Amino acid sequence: MSSAAIEYARSNYPRFLDELKTLLRIPSVSTLPEHKSDVLAAAQWLAAELTRIGMKNVEVIATPGHPLVYADWLNATGKPTCLCYGHYDVQPPDPLDEWKSQPFEPIERNGNLYARGAVDDKGQMYMHVKALEALLKSCNSKLPINIRVILEGEEEVGGEQIARFVREHPDRLQADFALVSDTDMFASELPTLCVGLRGMIYTEIGARGAKTDLHSGMYGGAVPNPFIALAQIIARLKDSAGRILIPGFYDAVKSPSADELKAWQTLPFDEEHYRLTEVGSSRLTGEPGFSVLERTWARPTLDVHGMPGGFTGAGAKTVIPAKAVAKVSMRLVPDQKPQQAFAQYKTYVEALKPDGIELDIRLIHSGEAIVIGTDNLYIQAATRALKKVWNKDTVFIRSGGSIPIVGDFERHLKIPTVMMGFGLPDDNIHAPNEKFHLANFYRGIESIIEFFEELAG
Ligand code: BES
Ligand code: MN
Ligand code: MN
Repeated sequence: MSSAAIEYARSNYPRFLDELKTLLRIPSVSTLPEHKSDVLAAAQWLAAELTRIGMKNVEVIATPGHPLVYADWLNATGKPTCLCYGHYDVQPPDPLDEWKSQPFEPIERNGNLYARGAVDDKGQMYMHVKALEALLKSCNSKLPINIRVILEGEEEVGGEQIARFVREHPDRLQADFALVSDTDMFASELPTLCVGLRGMIYTEIGARGAKTDLHSGMYGGAVPNPFIALAQIIARLKDSAGRILIPGFYDAVKSPSADELKAWQTLPFDEEHYRLTEVGSSRLTGEPGFSVLERTWARPTLDVHGMPGGFTGAGAKTVIPAKAVAKVSMRLVPDQKPQQAFAQYKTYVEALKPDGIELDIRLIHSGEAIVIGTDNLYIQAATRALKKVWNKDTVFIRSGGSIPIVGDFERHLKIPTVMMGFGLPDDNIHAPNEKFHLANFYRGIESIIEFFEELAG
């Protein structure tokens, strides 16, 4: 049975790739208002494709934000139900001049497909669609298990709408487990299941000094500068060793189990290669006493993403800006609660406020960390499927990234998630020259087909 669907997939790979390129040409950047209609176009394109392959009850669900796309096929009586999740929105493509080819004109080079969203997450989400097509088209329009598909268009901006949908309509997403392909493999050729994600709080600190911008010669020395205020605040958020200085911030942090830590030590990780090739900096930073994997997977962190305001054009402008903003986020780990972490941060930042400055500290979005147990049927079936396709035992990893809805699936739908992703560490997600290794696109499709067939028993 498995061979029919895999045969079908193999003989259609060129078309699958062409379709993915069409989807990648739609610049569905969720954070930029000028791309709102593109996000909608991507949703409609996917709904049409789900209809074409034979999924039922296909719907573009309008929300106050970007739409959701739903589809199902529920005629496999007595078989488990999988909730396939993915996101069709992408990160902004900038800095544009660092791209070797246009971000929204997908192009193949050296066995990779380059485009914004190639792997995060359009290409990976599309593996689900193509696995479903291969199964439906090769088995008399039947699937081996029941499937619901839910796709969102605002994962990259916090996923507020899907979170609300899960809370308000858990019945419409009722399933035994969820499948998410939005993570990466620990190394090339190493089948990987991700069993932990960090949570996050993303904030903005707005600082205001004078009522308007002022000539820095006429006024400098006598008036507050909001950039200096923000620099002083930021300098006190973390110490030079990388420890976050917010009082109480680490209180809820739960360490990984001894078994998990031991397993991480057996992963093929070369710190020097990581520093030199993946990161490309003169040294790594972070908390002493924790390995790089612990620092990025199991410890909270704090970063500054940008400081809009003032003069950033070419050359010089002598001005004391009236206002400035700092975008600051924290990655959270079990059992830190986003609301509590934000309250601790806000109280601390307010206490650091320099005289003459007004602060406005806002929470933009948040999501909880999650760790998934490996002793469930679905994870076990996934490892068997991966073994068939990759001929290797699966490694279990965590990831430092966040996919906020995975925690909601557990809390509101009471189901575990199988995070079976096929990205590679050097795929440049969120960065210029994002790519998807095409062999992984194809083997990902085959892994998903094998997984569903494995679950049919
Ligand atoms: N796919 C990523 C998360 C990810 C990256 C998981 C690498 C595992 C490995 C996702 O699209 C993402 O970027 N999420 C955002 C979420 C945030 C905006 C709430 C993130 O982690 O920054
Ligand atoms: Mn993603
Ligand atoms: Mn992303």
